[in-house]
Amino acid sequence: MTCAKVIGTGHCVPERVVTNHDLARMMDTSDEWIVERTGIRERRWITPGTTLDDLAAGASRMALQDAGIEAGELDLIICATLNPDCFFPGNGVLLQHALGARTVGAMDLRNQCTGFVYGVATAAAHIKAGFARTVLVVGTEIHSTSMDLTDRGRDIAVLFGDGAGAAVLRATGDQGEGRSDVLASVLHSQGEFARELWCELPSGSQPGRITAEQIAEGRHYPLMNGRAVYTHAVRRFCEAIREVLEAGGVAKQDVKLVIPHQANLRITEAVTKRFDLAPEQVFSNIQRYGNTTAASIPIALSEASREGRLARGDLLVLVAFGSGFTWGANLIRW
Ligand code: COA
Repeated sequence: MTCAKVIGTGHCVPERVVTNHDLARMMDTSDEWIVERTGIRERRWITPGTTLDDLAAGASRMALQDAGIEAGELDLIICATLNPDCFFPGNGVLLQHALGARTVGAMDLRNQCTGFVYGVATAAAHIKAGFARTVLVVGTEIHSTSMDLTDRGRDIAVLFGDGAGAAVLRATGDQGEGRSDVLASVLHSQGEFARELWCELPSGSQPGRITAEQIAEGRHYPLMNGRAVYTHAVRRFCEAIREVLEAGGVAKQDVKLVIPHQANLRITEAVTKRFDLAPEQVFSNIQRYGNTTAASIPIALSEASREGRLARGDLLVLVAFGSGFTWGANLIRW
């Protein structure tokens, strides 16, 4: 049976560090409030001129180098983002060009914080079906340009940051118990909660897409019902972990590492406690990057791999929840 092995990871974050104290000079907030409720201490913001595509290409090149392969060997590119450089075309094609890849398929996934998990599931399915041998999955986001940096937008503005992460998956014919593979994936959505965390405008169904009046009202900024998101997130994270372990026939004590989407340290801690995981089984870097939505898991994966937190044969769970609502998980044998 063909297996889908992660052969390389990479990440790319802007150099500009924005601390909570920096934000407190822009809006009515404080380091204490942000750290206590989210765990975030700083995040990265781009400087003008950097594009989403630049971040995606930076992370991808690092992942390709880590894998020891050239962009020309890719058979499929999957790009997850909720902040595309333009309304259309999608960022996947921009990445295909930036990397100098062949004219292979470039797919865009719009599944917000769950985008990378959807991407890994899609890559593994293509590999196992024999449609592709080598697939690049990227999560890339620029939030700093989209946020309301006044008191009105402070609940959102303190949470999100910019960055990109990537992984290369390749088909292998490895045999035996400890073979590297994406063992199982579970994906979910519940659109009835779309408006609990969304960016309403510009809208493809509104003539002219957006008006000056709507911009003045701030309706082009992201909106979030923080309490609702928090409650659903904790529940769905736990369900997705349980479901993917069942699908893969694995016990939770056998999992070496869980990399949750870095939404909020309090959410991660609640899931760790509720699911009775040991602290060393769960990876967190939200303190340094904030919530980078689709990029958060691949950035964390790249860091975990470089920190030596994963050895070949280890069991790894990627799990995410986000706008949509969407949620899901991948069970991977590293
Ligand atoms: N700084 C200071 N005060 C802020 C603030 C900020 N950045 N943002 C909001 N507040 C204020 C609110 O205006 C409100 O004030 P009020 O009580 O006078 O109306 C108060 O803080 C709300 O505080 P509290 O009820 O303690 O907030 P909370 O415990 O619900 O925490 C979140 C707020 C956003 C941190 C929390 O709801 C959360 O983590 N939600 C999930 C967010 C998330 O993960 N989103 C991404 C999912 S992918």
